[in-house]
Amino acid sequence: MENKKYYITTPIYYPSGNFHVGTCYCTLMADTIARYKRLRGYDVFFMTGTDEHGQKIEEKAKLANKTPKEYVDEFATNVKELWKILGISYDKYMRTTDEDHKLAVQKIFQKLYEKGDIYLGSYEGLYCTPCESFWTETQLVDGKCPDCGREVKLVKEESYFFRLSKYQKRLEEYYEEHPEFLEPISRKNEMMKNFFEKGLDDLCVSRTSIKWGIQVPFDPKHVIYVWLDALTNYITGLGYLGEDDHCFKKYWPADLHLVGKEIFRFHSIIWPAILMALDLPLPKKIFGHGWLVVDGKKISKSFGNYKDPRIYIEKTSVDHLRYYLLREVAFGQDGNFSEDLFIEKSNSDLSNNLGNLVSRVTAMVQKYNNGIITKSKNPEMLDYDKDLINSVSVLASKVEGRMDQLELNKALDEIWEVISKANKYIDLSMPWILAKEEKLERLNEVLYNLIETIRIIAVVLQPFMIDVPRKIFEQVGVEQDLQVWDSAYQFGLLKEGTKITKGENIFPRLEQGKELFKVEEEKKVEEKKEEPIKEEYITIDELEKIKLKVGQIKSVEKVEKADKLYKLSVDMGNEVRTIVSGLVKYYEPDELLNKQVVVVANLKPAKLRGIESNGMLLAAGDDDIVKLLVLDNNAGTLENGTNIH
Ligand code: MSP
Repeated sequence: MENKKYYITTPIYYPSGNFHVGTCYCTLMADTIARYKRLRGYDVFFMTGTDEHGQKIEEKAKLANKTPKEYVDEFATNVKELWKILGISYDKYMRTTDEDHKLAVQKIFQKLYEKGDIYLGSYEGLYCTPCESFWTETQLVDGKCPDCGREVKLVKEESYFFRLSKYQKRLEEYYEEHPEFLEPISRKNEMMKNFFEKGLDDLCVSRTSIKWGIQVPFDPKHVIYVWLDALTNYITGLGYLGEDDHCFKKYWPADLHLVGKEIFRFHSIIWPAILMALDLPLPKKIFGHGWLVVDGKKISKSFGNYKDPRIYIEKTSVDHLRYYLLREVAFGQDGNFSEDLFIEKSNSDLSNNLGNLVSRVTAMVQKYNNGIITKSKNPEMLDYDKDLINSVSVLASKVEGRMDQLELNKALDEIWEVISKANKYIDLSMPWILAKEEKLERLNEVLYNLIETIRIIAVVLQPFMIDVPRKIFEQVGVEQDLQVWDSAYQFGLLKEGTKITKGENIFPRLEQGKELFKVEEEKKVEEKKEEPIKEEYITIDELEKIKLKVGQIKSVEKVEKADKLYKLSVDMGNEVRTIVSGLVKYYEPDELLNKQVVVVANLKPAKLRGIESNGMLLAAGDDDIVKLLVLDNNAGTLENGTNIH
């Protein structure tokens, strides 16, 4: 096959917090396509990375008490680790703080300025810092950023502008002539309606109010707008305007930019216009994928529905997570993330369907033929044999059709259809009966058909999964030459005499339910939640805060102009306190004198009718009857000031 090049990119990520399963989706999709293209013999260049400049990062770093560079370095290290765990096979990790990128961006800016496509003006408008986006009043939704719903700030400053408006016509013509350029079509239409119908405005491409960015080479008080800096990574990462541009010459234009739907407009309007201004060819396709959502809401740390992908991988496997994410998000649409569904799909599709097929078949070959593959000399080829063999023989080309349309979930549907068919084939052919009746020729035929089916399934699963295809090849004894993509076109290549080894179960069932994914901190929070929370309960610590003491009433006076209140002097042992109490209606002064009572001794003093009251007497009752709590002196007298527990 001709060694064609394939250049695929993901967005470069903002270092804004930890990654969640949603953020992984785009890179996982790109990785699957890159692996698929490599298997098809393409010379693939897969680039991902981090978008490390801008106001948002400046602010985040400050909050974390770090310099912006320390902050982004740490983030990039974490992302690379995560990509390793997830099996992301990128060829280059791009960082916009790399020196060669910064220099190239400055050269691009200079070039556009000299050409007259960038000019100095002044900007007054609205800016959303989290999205690093400029908006006009009419674009806001309820006065907030239309992309993320957060507050926008009014900014006013001298700025350089890119003549985006100049490219509107050319862009429209390009879309028209290249219907495959923007996908899905619904997203393109939405964008045309929202932006082109209103007319494109020139784009503000510099800021003077922030420091963390690439300086305009001829006017260093200006920092280049982060989106101009970020978008150009797709060419600077290949060496454009750098010392070594052989990758640029080889791989540009990109074959596919994969981006999430909320950043589709930057990629489908601003980026092609910049390329036009630079006289460079445009990427072949920009695909705006949907989001992973929980209950209809985008997964995001700020929505609190965030989960670290590492947890799912640790508790299950990288292939469980890859399978779930790739199967759940349909072409361009949103996909649902739910832990219940994750468990359900893992058990039904992976353990029951694929895992069982492999373990049943390898066990039967062990049991009935000492683990050796034998081809039948006179295959019977019943209808259901033909049906299985036909389906397996066209599987690779069906998967190709789906992959070329970027319908990754449908490619998996095709594979699982064959897996289900193979399981049914076991039920129809009943190898155990054939063994019992010693129909060995037929038994060999059936077992061969099944093993060869499993081999081909493993070949076409390679773009989607990391460990499982390799484990299957090991168990089935498939050599390198029968692992390559083209070997999947032909049924019957597995050699006679191949030795099967019964290995570990490739997808053990997940028995625990979604409890499995609870991390220790969550469990602790749950445990706490499970304790009965009744409002009348206080903890022993709280109780101990209240100091109750024995006091003895030594004098009682009515407070002037207050018909409910007595002013009492109470002997507390080492001091005599004044306490104002509303007992007039219930006790005569004589009835109170010398009584030993319960005093809340550490109540904050309060002024009642101008008299400072230092404590409170405990009493029971309601408006009609109030009974003071008094010590029972028949049981002996306690000293005033004694603590009450
Ligand atoms: N830095 C910009 C991209 C610049 S590219 C020149 C950016 N970064 S981001 O970190 O906010 O987003 C990176 C990618 O993650 C985007 O494609 C975004 O759509 C994707 N996702 C973030 N949350 C997501 C989900 N919940 N689901 C699927 N993708 C999501 O934008």
